[in-house]
Amino acid sequence: MAIPQSFLDQLKMSCDIETIVSSYVPLKRAGRTSKGLCPFHSEKTPSFVVYHDSESFYCFGCGAGGDVISFIMRIENLGYIEALKFLADRAGLPFPEEEREDPSLRIKPLIYEINREAAHFYHDQLKSDVGLSGREYLMGERKLSAKTVTKYGLGFAPPGWDNLRNHLRKKGFSDEDMLAAAVVSRGRDGKSVYDTFRNRVIFPIIDIRKNVVGFGGRVMDDAKPKYLNSSDTPVFKKSRNLFSLNFAKNVTDSRLILAEGYMDVIAMNQAGFENVVATLGTALTPDQARLMATYAKEIVIAYDSDGPGRTATNRAVGLLEEAGLKTRILDMKGAKDPDEFIKKYGSERFKMLIDGARNVTEYQLGVIRAKYDLGSDEQRAAYLQEGVSFLASVPSDIEREIYGGRMAQEAGVPREVVKVSIDSVRKKNYARARKKESSDLQSGRLELKMGRKAGDAAEDGLIGCLYYHPDWAGKIIPKVDESALSEETAKIYRLLLEMQRTGGGTLSDLTPKLDEKESGRLAGILARVSDGQLGITPEALGDYLSTIENARLQKTLNGSGEMSLEEAEALAEAIRRKKLKR
Ligand code: GTP
Ligand code: MN
Repeated sequence: MAIPQSFLDQLKMSCDIETIVSSYVPLKRAGRTSKGLCPFHSEKTPSFVVYHDSESFYCFGCGAGGDVISFIMRIENLGYIEALKFLADRAGLPFPEEEREDPSLRIKPLIYEINREAAHFYHDQLKSDVGLSGREYLMGERKLSAKTVTKYGLGFAPPGWDNLRNHLRKKGFSDEDMLAAAVVSRGRDGKSVYDTFRNRVIFPIIDIRKNVVGFGGRVMDDAKPKYLNSSDTPVFKKSRNLFSLNFAKNVTDSRLILAEGYMDVIAMNQAGFENVVATLGTALTPDQARLMATYAKEIVIAYDSDGPGRTATNRAVGLLEEAGLKTRILDMKGAKDPDEFIKKYGSERFKMLIDGARNVTEYQLGVIRAKYDLGSDEQRAAYLQEGVSFLASVPSDIEREIYGGRMAQEAGVPREVVKVSIDSVRKKNYARARKKESSDLQSGRLELKMGRKAGDAAEDGLIGCLYYHPDWAGKIIPKVDESALSEETAKIYRLLLEMQRTGGGTLSDLTPKLDEKESGRLAGILARVSDGQLGITPEALGDYLSTIENARLQKTLNGSGEMSLEEAEALAEAIRRKKLKR
């Protein structure tokens, strides 16, 4: 990947980070920085900052950060070369010739083209004589209307090994290109090539820019596997896309419904709910949670009501809340999933279900309640016991009050009894936590934790010094034991040294070598230096180096034996004092 330095320099000069970022995010300028709402997670108060001096951005909320190129890579979901090309186009600079040969530039548009052609083929098949069984399945058995079938561009892959392949060949596509799009697969012999989807109804997966990125295919009987999804390709990452987001994104509701499967999403759409998405046959990922956060504030989880559905729900709640989203959980009594619920009870009742979706505490309490028969005294007592210990762990005073009251009513005991029990469990829990804390301290575990925190800040400082003062490298190298650094720090550290040896550079020169997390880390360090929170004076450097060395020694020490309580406390005190001094 040899991109001429002169081109990169020219590009950097023509792409002012503030101008470019502000075409995506409204920014307010204040001195040497500009602030706005972070486009990479959902927030109400701005924690996204553009630094003019270091030509970097950093979000103090989600840790996203980097230079103008990493910003474009992330917001446009492009690779490094593509982002360069995007910026060059924008700035009216010709892209260096040889880079047009870059395979990732050629292959993506080609895959989009193949996917679109394949989607047309499947759809046409569904409408033709060949597609009768597909139509019977989708419209007969699954009760989809012609309108819904058209809206989703549903299709049918006929039985046989090469229907699509022959069709695409006639259109001039090679096996290699079809393989890249994953619409055909290579046999175990390593030679034969055959259609990936055979005798299945087809669900095209379409991204927000209306590109067909992949396919899901379902059998029409009980054969296995029930669903087959395109494998990941240069244009398709299952962990980053959501089914039906192309429709859901247009809805002005601040609420999205998250379902488990294709059919649930489509059934809900047919029932009049457009703000629905599903993952693509895999569990929800943090990336998908963040993606949803850019379109909504609240997620209604409409997973299956069975055991695995519950587990998946609990996992999803955690990820969604981490992404700053509120969650509610649909309680589908009498049906296993939304598709079945709508078929059984109709869309009116489904709407009521959505509007009445419960918050997490209410939902959990419902799960507990369902385990007991409230007609029996004994079981009522058991319900109270489990309910109390659950509510004692709920942080919100108001929720404990409301649901404690409700539980009292259901179990037929005075409110006050439940309240007193919850408080007493909370006291016990608190005492237990305190005890654990002090025993942690004694065994030195807490020290290790504190040591590591202090170490983190020191590693940040070290990187900051090396970035802004590459000429200190000679002083730094002999004092740093690389193996004592965290893996991430060590990588950035080595890259900075290499850059220093090869004549220096800036953040942009590192962008192609850093992943999103590393780029955010480095941008965060530059941000804190800019804000004056992280010193880069020779004295500060001395402190960082000795903290790193101390942390290393401490780690060795902790590994080699028990510390007395007095020793542990003395060490904690020493670390605290050191922190204050800096
Ligand atoms: P129907 O049975 O058609 O109603 O589908 P469903 O969406 O209700 O299916 P289910 O709840 O069993 O699965 C939910 C989602 O998990 C599906 O939409 C698929 O994305 C995925 N899935 C289910 N079965 C398989 C499978 O065998 N392989 C893969 N890769 N994904 C599956
Ligand atoms: Mn289903």
